[in-house]
Amino acid sequence: DLDVSGLVDAEGGLLDRAVFTDGSLYRQELRRVFAPSWLFLAHTDQFHKPGDFFTTYMGEDPVIVTMDRGRTVRAYLNSCRHRGARVCRADSGATRNFTCTYHGWSYDLAGELVSVPNRDGYPGSFRTGDWGLVEVPQVASYRGLIFGTWNPEPVPLTEYLGDMAWYLDAMLDHDPDGTVVVGGVHKWTLDGNWKLAAEQFATDWYHVNMSHASALMLLTPEGRRPRDEIVHRTGRQYVGDNGHGAGFPVHPKNRFDERAVHDWTDYAALRARLGDARVEGPLTNGHATVFPNFSYLPVNGSIRVWHPKGPDRMEVWAWTLVDRSMPPEVREAQRLYNLRTFGPSGIFEQDDGENWSEVQAISHGFITNQVPLNYQMGLGSERHDGTYPGRTSELYSDAAGRGFYAHWRELMNTPAWHEQEPTR
Ligand code: FES
Repeated sequence: DLDVSGLVDAEGGLLDRAVFTDGSLYRQELRRVFAPSWLFLAHTDQFHKPGDFFTTYMGEDPVIVTMDRGRTVRAYLNSCRHRGARVCRADSGATRNFTCTYHGWSYDLAGELVSVPNRDGYPGSFRTGDWGLVEVPQVASYRGLIFGTWNPEPVPLTEYLGDMAWYLDAMLDHDPDGTVVVGGVHKWTLDGNWKLAAEQFATDWYHVNMSHASALMLLTPEGRRPRDEIVHRTGRQYVGDNGHGAGFPVHPKNRFDERAVHDWTDYAALRARLGDARVEGPLTNGHATVFPNFSYLPVNGSIRVWHPKGPDRMEVWAWTLVDRSMPPEVREAQRLYNLRTFGPSGIFEQDDGENWSEVQAISHGFITNQVPLNYQMGLGSERHDGTYPGRTSELYSDAAGRGFYAHWRELMNTPAWHEQEPTR
């Protein structure tokens, strides 16, 4: 086991670049950060009838998420119990069984092995009941977001989210009908460690003025000076207890950026439901991360997962969410707006990916890798401000980043459930 205490100085705001490059740390991350944490799997709108399925990853483990005959959404390791091939190689769809294309073992929606070619060739001790798919032991949802964990006895999902749920609701709870997915799931790969993206969405508003300057000037309303729009913003940053984070500017006049969404939105109803502070703050064009690798942008309706693919690579999977009550033309406007800004070729997404790949590209250098990174902005500024739940800091601050890595350090230094001695 590697003790990472010397790599993360969350109290002093320093980070060793080995956390982005070291292969041994990465393997420890898979078993101590990803295996025990609640991980985003899918949206409930992706499952309407028994047999609907979606395949994804938990860390690097492939999983199938499906609705069983009792209409319960369950998740299984997508690996055949015979010789280990994936039993489902489609991205999504509907099926009655998952049949392995290698030798033909077949599993039902409850993960039971129900068909074995040449069954008579196996010894009498062979029981199909012993060879079902490995099930993800805990699956739970929060306002349409489905999470799973390999930890058989985790803290409940709502407890894990804590105050983060209040911020999430700014995107998910506009009306009682909740949200739906529009369009497909966009997937693309980036050279860069997954934490570069996750921590930025949790904490980094500092990059916005510089990295996105040209994009912001493009979007600046006519008659206003771009620099005023870009620089002079107030806001807050939420610092979650479990590594979560959210940053948001505060706009006294609430707004959605897409005109069709703005015109359709009943702001008075939103204020009555969510409260003025939430509509003027977390509902604005902020971004946030639910630790470890689920992030979202409320105004864009973008939710995404940063799947780890080795220390140097990530795969980004992104959905567009809209309110279920939105009419089709408004849904389509929001979908296109999200694609223009944070789709694979979106004007903001391109800026971000360039930065993460740039940092990663040079971090393996022998000298480079020994020079610590700075997370000291707003050091000591976290406090309960009386307006927003939990501890918050300034909008331009690294506070949630320090919280992200403090939680990462705690998990990395703590044996997970699968490493602990069984109690007798
Ligand atoms: Fe699946 Fe052989 S690996 S049936």
